[in-house]
Amino acid sequence: MSVGLDLGTANLLVARQSGQGVEVKRIRNSFVEIDDEQRQRLSSSTLNAVHLGNKSFIVGDEAISLARILNKEVRRPMSAGVLNPEERDGRMVISTLIKTLVGEPKEEFEKCAFSVPSLPVDNASKSGTVWHTGFFNQLLEGLGYDPEPVNEALAIIYSECANDDHCGIAISHGAGQVNVAASYKLIASIEFSVARSGDWIDANSAAAVGTSIAKVLKIKEDPAFDLRNPEALDDEIGSAIMYHYKAMIKHELTYLSREWIKMKAQLDFPNAIPIVLSGGTASLKGFKELWIEELDRFHKRSPLPFKVSEVRLAKDPMGAVARGLLVYALSS
Ligand SMILES: Nc1ncnc2c1ncn2[C@@H]1O[C@H](COP(=O)(O)OP(=O)(O)OP(=O)(O)O)[C@@H](O)[C@H]1O
Ligand SMILES: [Mg+2]
Repeated sequence: MSVGLDLGTANLLVARQSGQGVEVKRIRNSFVEIDDEQRQRLSSSTLNAVHLGNKSFIVGDEAISLARILNKEVRRPMSAGVLNPEERDGRMVISTLIKTLVGEPKEEFEKCAFSVPSLPVDNASKSGTVWHTGFFNQLLEGLGYDPEPVNEALAIIYSECANDDHCGIAISHGAGQVNVAASYKLIASIEFSVARSGDWIDANSAAAVGTSIAKVLKIKEDPAFDLRNPEALDDEIGSAIMYHYKAMIKHELTYLSREWIKMKAQLDFPNAIPIVLSGGTASLKGFKELWIEELDRFHKRSPLPFKVSEVRLAKDPMGAVARGLLVYALSS
């Protein structure tokens, strides 16, 4: 028995074997504080609550809808891929969420591979991942697991590139960051992240057209929104989202090219390799097409230092990291 745990800025996911297949469960990594009066009424409600001293919080997916109703800010235990240093309450909240999500180990010292992001190469002031990794190691050990940190993007190579002899580039487009890993048969790899992803798109699209992030999210996460026809739901907000998507893709390609050239001595692929796109930010309609368009545009101006055999979307873009972590845990 083993478990894969994807610790994301926006979502926590767990993958476990179930019969012949894999079961993936997801919970929003969010919370909202409620006051005494709301707390009194809670006893008769089915909402997921956490109490800390004299404070009470509604956690998980319900925090998002409740925040909208109460016109309150949704808070997050993590920011930019790691524990948010400004959210002390958040640590207790995320501990409770993880306990609920992974539960007790199915056997003594069950292996639990959990995701850790790479440091952003475009934000040198960002603190490291030591504190973040140590916190979750201790939490999972306390629950009775045998935890092991694994790079977020490298996990996708395990879930998506087994048929490519584990050669390829995997890109996880999350909320806080874009994590990138390039692997040559798992023997050599480069890993890095950039700080522009979903949250950056939301904040900058909202600022660009003078609207709220909530309104941007309403359009961006509408199942009918399509990056190939961005004006269909809202001409201003839709276009702003599309332009920021293009800017994000260009930004990640710039750093991919730059990091590759730096590391070329260690990673020189003889053949063309696949690129796998994943993450919530990659799950929009038209994302792959826009990505390929931007790749072609980039390549014409500054040729890429590697050959691409294909660009494909992960089979399960939101669950690819958790699934890969499970594969890793089962094989280690
Ligand atoms: N159905 C959807 N349509 C559009 N965007 C979505 C959808 N679901 C999630 N997103 C966006 O995807 C992002 C969250 O993706 P994901 O869950 O992969 O991030 P994360 O793993 O929690 O973050 P990170 O890896 O940066 O720590 C958010 O910006 C969210 O707005
Ligand atoms: Mg992620």
